[in-house]
Amino acid sequence: MGEGETKIKEMLLDKFAELFGDADGVKVYFAPGRVNLIGEHTDYNGGHVFPCALTIGTYAAARKRADKKLRFYSTNFEEIGVMESDVEDLKASKEAGWTNYPKGVMWAFSLRGMQMEKGLDMVIYGNIPNGSGLSSSASLEVLTGYLLRDLYGFSVTNVELAQIGQYSENNFNGCNCGIMDQFASAMGKKDNAIFLNTADLSYEYAPLALEGAKIIVTNSKVKHNLVDSKYNERRSECEQALKELQTVVNIDGLGDLTEEQFEANQSVIADDIRRKRAKHAVYENQRTLRAVEALKNNELALFGKLMNESHISLRDDYEVSCEEIDVLVEEAWKVEGVIGSRITGGGFGGCTVSLVKDEAVAEFQEKVGAAYRERFDIQADFYVVEIGDGPRTL
Ligand code: GLA
Repeated sequence: MGEGETKIKEMLLDKFAELFGDADGVKVYFAPGRVNLIGEHTDYNGGHVFPCALTIGTYAAARKRADKKLRFYSTNFEEIGVMESDVEDLKASKEAGWTNYPKGVMWAFSLRGMQMEKGLDMVIYGNIPNGSGLSSSASLEVLTGYLLRDLYGFSVTNVELAQIGQYSENNFNGCNCGIMDQFASAMGKKDNAIFLNTADLSYEYAPLALEGAKIIVTNSKVKHNLVDSKYNERRSECEQALKELQTVVNIDGLGDLTEEQFEANQSVIADDIRRKRAKHAVYENQRTLRAVEALKNNELALFGKLMNESHISLRDDYEVSCEEIDVLVEEAWKVEGVIGSRITGGGFGGCTVSLVKDEAVAEFQEKVGAAYRERFDIQADFYVVEIGDGPRTL
């Protein structure tokens, strides 16, 4: 545990004692956020993704109670104060704010026959900027599942923690997300990206020993909210296009098609917009397969080129970028030593991910930062990414 984490743990225990009397027997847990290197908007289309867990995420100090009460507090939303609920009353509501995430996970556990007989007190702290596309919500879901397993002795694997998190986000919180974020958080492995086939959840770890290069996440500070954004609309456009394609080809998802098969059959999709959406899903999946291959062969330049193509497709065909993000990416492309750069995550704001040669890291931050400030009067944040492990007890 690094010095930073020791401080976070102390802070959470102090807060817990201040709010709930004492911190006897309280345990502290962590679950990471994620950044996706390539394979965007493929995870609900039966395609492949290539994310990795970050070393930033969400922490919780938690302890079981003797009664059925639930008490939640977030040091990120101090103005909200302690929020109360009850294990017998797990319903989503607007007033419940961020606590809808842990409550949704508790609800999803109960649907699987894992009922909390007793309540709990929980204080959380997160160091992922909210709405930045680095999966603060998935990390909170996985964290909740992980601590419930520990405190209540529920028998679930980490893959199931990811599935429960996704289920609760879909059915309790109203975002029809795929499995990528929760999977990356629950299954993260230090210094590795996860090559996941979302059609059957088979996966493989890929060591990311990037010789002479760094992964840099740039936060546009344009916040997205996937519940209100066009995320769900994209998902239904793809589902509709899939139905049209299924009248002529025998497939379960858009991820089953090669580019050639798509081109040969795309005319059955009756609408131009839907055709563009499906095209992105098919091409992005194939790009992801190639990118992972390129990485295995140590062909970083090819990996970067595929990242750039991914951005163009997300911008033009899938239309989930925005002006600010496009500027960050286009400015990055201009810097010598940038191997690749693209939007990452759900889109409509959030972050970009760039692969940058060591010697160009300083120049990259300077030039991209200055151009962005000049254009939008916003100070972008840069993080040199460290790839971390999945959830753990501190
Ligand atoms: C969000 C969703 C994921 C995935 C990405 C886009 O992060 O939660 O399931 O669909 O968008 O790749």
